[in-house]
This record gives sequence, structure tokens and C-alpha cells, in this order.
Amino acid sequence: MAASDHGIRLGVAYYPEQWPRERWALDAQLMADVGLSLVRMGEFAWAQLEPEPGRFEAAWLDDAIDLFARRGLDVVLGTPTAAPPLWLVREHPDVVPLAADRHRVGFGNRRHCCPNAPAFLAATDRIVSALGERFGHDDRVCAWQIDNELGGRCYCDHCRSAFRLWLERKYEQIELLNESWGTAFWSQRYDDWDDIGLPAPDPVPPGGFARRAPNPGLALDFRRFTSDSYVRYERRQSELLRALIRPEQQITHNLMGFYFPEVDYASLSAELDFVSWDNYPSLDPTRSWTRPALSADAMRGLKRRRVWVMEQQVGPLGWEYVHTPRRGQMRLHSYQAIGHGAEALLFFRWRTARFGTEQNWYGVLDANGTVGRRYEELGRLCDELRRLDLLEDAEAEAEVAVLYDYDSRFVLQVQPTNAALAHEATIHRWYAALRRLGLGVDVVPRGSDLSAYRLVVVPSMPVVDGTVGADLTAYVDAGGTLVIGPHAGVRDPSSAAPLRRLPAWLDQVLGIEVTDVASIDDPVDVHGLVSGAIDGWSEELAVLDATALARYVDGDFAGGAAISERRHGDGSAVYVGGAGDDAVLESLLRTVCGRLGLPLFELPNDVELIPLRCRGERLFFVLNHGDREQRIGLSDGTWRDLIGGAVNDRFIVPKFEVLLLRPEETGRQRRAEEEEAVVAG
Ligand code: GAL
Repeated sequence: MAASDHGIRLGVAYYPEQWPRERWALDAQLMADVGLSLVRMGEFAWAQLEPEPGRFEAAWLDDAIDLFARRGLDVVLGTPTAAPPLWLVREHPDVVPLAADRHRVGFGNRRHCCPNAPAFLAATDRIVSALGERFGHDDRVCAWQIDNELGGRCYCDHCRSAFRLWLERKYEQIELLNESWGTAFWSQRYDDWDDIGLPAPDPVPPGGFARRAPNPGLALDFRRFTSDSYVRYERRQSELLRALIRPEQQITHNLMGFYFPEVDYASLSAELDFVSWDNYPSLDPTRSWTRPALSADAMRGLKRRRVWVMEQQVGPLGWEYVHTPRRGQMRLHSYQAIGHGAEALLFFRWRTARFGTEQNWYGVLDANGTVGRRYEELGRLCDELRRLDLLEDAEAEAEVAVLYDYDSRFVLQVQPTNAALAHEATIHRWYAALRRLGLGVDVVPRGSDLSAYRLVVVPSMPVVDGTVGADLTAYVDAGGTLVIGPHAGVRDPSSAAPLRRLPAWLDQVLGIEVTDVASIDDPVDVHGLVSGAIDGWSEELAVLDATALARYVDGDFAGGAAISERRHGDGSAVYVGGAGDDAVLESLLRTVCGRLGLPLFELPNDVELIPLRCRGERLFFVLNHGDREQRIGLSDGTWRDLIGGAVNDRFIVPKFEVLLLRPEETGRQRRAEEEEAVVAG
């Protein structure tokens, strides 16, 4: 949703059904006083909204909306389908999903719903329509959130039937399915659609034996089908709503960042007016600043537009361990999300729950409802952002794209091959290497238009077809620089090995052939224009129409090319034949980006630089994610920190602090602009 008339908007998740009615007004007032303008509610309140099948009770929600609206807060209304009420489960036990081990996680949690269960779909239609009818023309409601964090694989009979139908639509003839899945292997031939079952849940456990691993074609299609089930489910809700709501009300869903591997967010987001996502930096096991940054860039990359963070961590949280943000990190992480393209942040949650599973999820207020440190900090952030109103026109600037792909992700879930090839981790390593150089990066799904980027990095793309190959080739032909990571083009879209030279469909643009591959226990040094080590997974390259940027120093491939480059007009295509270590990534990226003239920075490890474009100027967010102060310098000219006010070409950034730097106009520049203005006037 365009929020340009509001600046960066802040809000919270609020659950009126969890608090006494007499308290709502005070909460609304406290929110307004602190500077919030958005409140999300309703997404788990199905039992209160429809206490019995077909009997709707929305007056309480109406009253709550009214109280908040009167305090100037716009409401994001959630459809409550992530928490089906008991009556639905009692009447239709089959709405509860079946886990791969045939276990049903019954009532008493949430997400106890199968996206293919007819009774769940019918009940969804009823509650969504009732809400749409009641609030669809309500100008107190600015947006709808469909469901909550869609996901989960279900193995019930409804899914089994829906999967068969999905396959029948896709293949039309069972013979084509047999060919595609290669059912000649292990006598897995199917005669009839009805014979097809769901795959075993997971690939072989590490160190396990492949006796029970599913057919990879079946497993890939099942993952696609599960993802499609959620896309269909979301579309079902969005179509119902669209018919009932005024166009100013926008539709979104809260996604779970880059690391959630089950649903193809590229397809899911196509149904939405804007993307929103949930950001909990403290839950990241590595605590590295590059991981939430990657999520933020990937969420923005889905529509290549600004996003909302529908849930932004505000305090300590966790079940078995309470992950605790350090003082200052709430603000720091908020700025990070804003720098990466969030135009609204809704903190999770307003008040710590008194009861229920999330008692350890600290909100802005404590469970006893008192105002404390987190409220004060939020107030300071609101004040600061009000002054930084130019951020509403700031766009993340990126001349580099990192490409990822859901089919590749799914194939690697089924056949991990080597831990060094893991999709998410590999994307993250390349992304982090780019960001450590201070580059702005768009993280975009396969099929995105790449023409605007100077450099496109494809760290992990085992699944390729003719179209992908042609698109990437066209990008290089048009003068682009392409870097492709190992294990590319080893599968076609049905998960079969292509009958082509590897990397299939990319060998010509790269000018190479992969002639051998190996898992390696010890890192092998590589040397050349690019140097470092290859670790975990290595490939031997025949350079046919390319040059070697690095060769193996020892190991079985000693003397052979490890990294290649084919120059083509202004374009170039680089292949990295193995999992390069940080030294390889950095030296390769410095070489390539240096040649392209992309601005590179020397940054301390804990310091993140986010380039922005704002009202014709370049701005930089500088975030110190470490708990020691850092010094940074920007060589060209002097800069003003729009947050603290200081002007210099060098800055000290205290721990967990943030600067927003704008080039300081020199006296000469200012005079020239004034003269120009006079002439223009
Ligand atoms: C999100 C979810 C919220 C809440 C939160 C706690 O995944 O959408 O409802 O559970 O996590 O971190």
C-alpha cells in the first residue's frame, strides 16, 4: 500500500478478544500517544466471531475498531482462518491435517486445518464473506491480512485426492507422468491416477540409507502441489474479499521471510496487493545481520516494491529459551527493515500475553499492562521517524540481483547432495559477500526481469530448462554480468538428469563443460585471478570457450579450472565450479564489481551499509550491528547524519547505533543550484 502521505507508519498487533473490554480505550489512547497509526486485529478470533456455525458476532470487533479509529489508528483486519474453532473440528475432524507419520495434531493449537479439506474451505468461505460484508466498506479498515503465515504439509486423504487431480491436470496422460518421473526405475510404473500415493515425508536422514527415499519426480511434484494448495487457498479468500471490499482496502498476507521453504512466495505474492512479512531477528540462530537483511531484500524482491513488516520483534521471546534483543536492537532492527524497503512496521505485540502459548513473547507493554522501557523506546522511534519524513520517498538502490528458485529449492530438499550446496545457505553466503562490500542487492525469484541489473548472481540453480537458459543467455548478450554457482543445470523441471552437456542449457553461455564432480572432506586451494579455497563440493571444468579465473592447486582436479569466465561483447558469464569459501567469493566479487565500476566499501564486519535513492539523491543507512563502537569513513565529500545531525566525512558509530547519511552540499553546489532555481523561476 502506498503510504507516501503518512511517512513510515508504525503500529502493533492487538487482540481485543484477549483483554477486558474496559481496557481497550486505554490501550487505544496509549497507542495514539506514543505515535502509532496502525493496529492489526482479528487474525485468530474465529471462535469469537462465529461462536456457532453460521452465527456471527462481530459487534465486539466493530466496537474495538471504533475505539481505535477514533484515536486515529487505521485497522488491518485479519481473516481468522489460522485458528479454526472447536465446533468445526468436532463436526469435521477431517479438517485437521495429517502429519507425514499419520499423526493428527488435534484441536488446541493453531493451523489445525488442511487447505484441501472441503469442510474447512466451506467454513472459510462463510467467515471470510461475513467479514467482507460487514467491514468491506468500512473506511476505518485500511487493509486485510489473509490468514496468518500459511504453510505446513498435510498428508490426509483430501490432499491425496487433490494431488491426484493436480497430477491429472498437469500430465493429462498417465504415460506422460510415468515418463516424467522415470517410473521404469524400481518398477514404480503407475497404471491409474488412483494408484498414486503421497511421497515419504523427507529425504534420507543424514548418514541414512536411501531404501525409503521417494521418487524425486513425485517428491518434487508433491512440494509444488502443497505450495499450490496454499496459493489456491489464499486466492479463494482474496477473490471473495475483492468482490466485497472497496478498492482502497488492500489485501496482504504475512509471509515468513526468505528462509521459509514450503510455499512458493513468488506465486503466493502474485495474489496480493502488497507483500508483508514477519521479522524476528533474535530468533535467527546465527544472529548475523545479513540473514534478516536477506529476508527483507527477498520480500521486497517479490513485487520489487516496498513492503510492510506485519510483525516486527519488539522484545524478548521464545519457548525453550527467551531470545533477548540487546538494548538498542529493537530500534536498530526497525531501521534495518525500513532501509530494506519497509514502509510500515507493526510490532508484535502490543501487550505481553497473560495466558496462552506465547506468554514469553514480550510486547510493548508488560502482561500487567504497565508502560515501561519498551514503550518509551517505541516513543523515541516514532518521534525520530516523524522527523525523517523524507524516508517515505526513499527506495532501496540495487544494481545487483541475486536470483533464487523454488524448484531448485524443492529439488535440494529431496536430494540435498552435499551440505555445501544447500539452497538457502548458499544464497545467504553470496548475498552476505555482496553486502559486506556495501552493495545494495535485490533478491528476486527466477523469471524476474533482470535487464536493470549490472550484475546477476545465481548461487544455486540445479533445476534449469530451455527458458531459463535462454533468459540468462539473453541477459549476458545484452551486456550483463552473470555469475553462476555450482551444481547448476543438473536437473530438468521433472527432476530428471538432462540429456545435455552440463551445466545444461547454460554450457554455451558459460563456454564450459562440467566433466566431473566430487564431495571433498578437506578444502582445496584454488589460485589465479581469483584465489581462496573450494570446500565441501568441487567440480572439474573443461574450459571450451572461456578462460580459467582460478585453477585447483591440488586434489584430484589439480591443475584443472575451478572458476571460469566467458566474455561476450560487454557481457560476461562466470561459473564457480564448487562451494567457494569467503575468500573466493570476495576476490571474485571484487574483480567483477571493480570492472563494472560498482562502488565498493571497506566495512567492519558488524557494519551494514544500505544504499538508498531518495528525491534524486543517494543516501546511506549505516548500521552498527556489533556491541563495540565502529569508525567509518566515506571518501567522497562530507555527509550529514540526518538522525544525529553531525556533519563529517568520518563518523564514529556507537554500538547498535544507526546513521542516515546524506551528502552535504558544498557551498559551490548550493550556489549553483540556487542560480539554476533563479533561472528556472
Ligand atoms: C508469528 C505469528 C504470530 C506469533 C509470532 C510469535 O510467526 O504470526 O502469531 O505467533 O510468530 O513470534
